[in-house]
Amino acid sequence: MAIRNIVKEGDDVLRKNCRTVVDFNERLWTLLDDMAETMYDANGVGLAAPQVGILRRVVVIDVGEGLMELINPAIVKTAGMQEGSEGCLSSPGEYGVVRRPMKVRVKAQDRYGKVFEAEGTGLLARAFCHEIDHLSGKLFKDIAIRMIAPDEMEPAEE
Ligand code: NI
Repeated sequence: MAIRNIVKEGDDVLRKNCRTVVDFNERLWTLLDDMAETMYDANGVGLAAPQVGILRRVVVIDVGEGLMELINPAIVKTAGMQEGSEGCLSSPGEYGVVRRPMKVRVKAQDRYGKVFEAEGTGLLARAFCHEIDHLSGKLFKDIAIRMIAPDEMEPAEE
């Protein structure tokens, strides 16, 4: 495993569409392992492949409930609404208030290609939305209602 460099806002790679993963091979597993290590090293709760310069539909998340690996994830159902602070490892020191669904159901594949569904409420629902947005070049600042000072809220960086 290796810690990879996190791409910062302003780099074009964060604005591109990611390609679907078709090969569930050792190269993917290395990417997943490296992304998890990079996320934990940066104290983040989520990381998307374009944030390490790879334009593939790959996401890792850990909101404190264990590591989740999502390949080719898609949101299949949402319910409710939450408004809360959000940050991003690609925009260090910047936080904003973002409106997200309170509950999100996603469909994805695991590292072996097996399809599964997962449901998240609160922070996990927020993480699903934030990371999946990264896969189509969207950043939280694009949809933030307003930016906030770092000490205004307790943020989780994704
Ligand atoms: Ni992010």
